Amino acid sequence: MIGRLNHVAIAVPDLEAAASLYRDTLGAKVGAPQDEPDHGVTVIFIELPNTKIELLYPLGDASPINGFLAKNPSGGIHHICYEVDDILAARDKLKADGARVLGTGEPKIGAHGKPVLFLHPKDFTGTLVELEQV
Ligand code: CO
Repeated sequence: MIGRLNHVAIAVPDLEAAASLYRDTLGAKVGAPQDEPDHGVTVIFIELPNTKIELLYPLGDASPINGFLAKNPSGGIHHICYEVDDILAARDKLKADGARVLGTGEPKIGAHGKPVLFLHPKDFTGTLVELEQV
């Protein structure tokens, strides 16, 4: 059901320092910061030849990243995103198999303008999984 690894998301306590690390030290192609108010994050995408890295920084007091950074003050891998062809079919299969879909269970429009859903980390070996319909 899952296809390509779309991105790995890393929550960071200092967005400019992390962007500089990837651009200047690691020599990657680093995009501009984008605010995503619906998701409570500011993101920077880093284009790699085979996938993307998504740097996540909290936007607002209710950001879902605040708690993560409180537990991981120097940052850390927050989620991984797999591509699916049909997000509603994927959701229905996963729910039928007992997996928990976060939020309302309805896809939201993600940072790439495509529908996304998140799956409970306790159901996926401790990893928060994002599905993106491509
Ligand atoms: Co993501």
